[in-house]
Amino acid sequence: MDLFLDTANLDEIRQTVRLGVIRGVTTNPSLAAKEGIGDLREYRRAVQEICGIVDGPVSAEVIATELEEMVRQAREIASWAPNVVVKLPSTLSGFEAMSVLSREGLRINQTLCFSVNQALLGAHAGATFVSPFVGRLDDEGHDGMQVVGDIVDVFRRYNIGTKVLAASIRHPLHCVAAAKAGAHIATVPFKVLLQMAHHPLTDVGVARFAQDWGRVVKV
Ligand code: E4P
Repeated sequence: MDLFLDTANLDEIRQTVRLGVIRGVTTNPSLAAKEGIGDLREYRRAVQEICGIVDGPVSAEVIATELEEMVRQAREIASWAPNVVVKLPSTLSGFEAMSVLSREGLRINQTLCFSVNQALLGAHAGATFVSPFVGRLDDEGHDGMQVVGDIVDVFRRYNIGTKVLAASIRHPLHCVAAAKAGAHIATVPFKVLLQMAHHPLTDVGVARFAQDWGRVVKV
């Protein structure tokens, strides 16, 4: 399972790229707003900067909800950089836009996906990635990871090429479960990535090795 970083924060992206562990980035309007980005021009600047740092796919989301404007924005976003992937929502307008834009060769990340049926529709409409939102499903008392696993199973059974991108990841156990469920990718917030790296026994072990090594008195 590949890891993407779920952020619009450039410092977090730079730090994580240096670690060599992420293959892409996902952003959304809320993550952009958190960085003080409030219009498409600023979003464009930020996404282009991210695309300069990350080689892999960088998802940027349309703000529009109506078909015509959605398609216009998606084409504009796709022109920002060669590695941009356009995020479109799992709505009727979103599916229609996916269908139009995938035929034009745009790469699409189907976002706000909460069911196998939505994932199937997105796949048929030509989405490159489908993003089931695990944490938000859990928040509503559903089993988000079950949805990820079911989408993986159905896509496998019918040989569907759309990649399953587990999103709305809230803690390290979500990553383990996404990997076990067969997700192709998990997009993780910076905080979760740090949690994934950390283990108290590693810290204790490093300290003990250093201490033992220093104890040898050379004569
Ligand atoms: C990424 O593609 C999604 O937009 C993101 O993971 C949503 O996460 P949230 O539910 O924590 O806002």
